[in-house]
Amino acid sequence: MRDMTLADIDAVCAIEQLVQPYPWSRGNFTDALGSGYRCVVDEVVGQIVSYAVLMPVLDEAELLNIGVAAAQQRKGLGKAMLDAQMQWARTQNMQRIFLEVRVSNLPAIALYRAVGFIEIGMRRGYYQNAAGREDAMAMACELNKEAQVKLHG
Ligand SMILES: CC(C)(COP(=O)(O)OP(=O)(O)OC[C@H]1O[C@@H](n2cnc3c(N)ncnc32)[C@H](O)[C@@H]1OP(=O)(O)O)[C@@H](O)C(=O)NCCC(=O)NCCS
Repeated sequence: MRDMTLADIDAVCAIEQLVQPYPWSRGNFTDALGSGYRCVVDEVVGQIVSYAVLMPVLDEAELLNIGVAAAQQRKGLGKAMLDAQMQWARTQNMQRIFLEVRVSNLPAIALYRAVGFIEIGMRRGYYQNAAGREDAMAMACELNKEAQVKLHG
């Protein structure tokens, strides 16, 4: 796993176009890099297969995007990438990571739950979809063990 660079954006966008119903544009990735967000990629035999974008905000962060090439899904790459982003956030003394996910995106929700995210709310009609609008599930993961115990009871 390594930091994403501008030179990676074509390869990242090629995956994004295939795996996301409403893909980020080239400009979205360029802006994320330019804003200093933590953008990482992972490679298999020299080919980019996964990427993730984390936006730090003081002592919290928001996971803005994560994708794994279709042929490489369900091999643990998404989890590895998320674990690495969470580990990095801990080294920056961040307390928690937030994200929003389409309620229909069951693979992503399963992944987020698998690494410790829990549902904290619902945003009605947050996303556009073929039927008009779709709800977003808001999720959070406490990075510090004591806070996690409180949250999970
Ligand atoms: C969501 C996504 C990143 C998961 O990546 P992945 O590399 O396939 O996931 P992993 O192999 O690391 O899966 C880790 C765990 O998540 C859960 N999971 C992942 N994909 C799943 C699926 N399709 N169905 C059910 N559970 C799933 C499982 O618990 C899995 O563990 P297991 O394989 O031991 O059962 C990938 O499906 C993807 O790129 N989707 C399109 C882009 C997207 O929706 N991104 C999120 C919104 S921005």
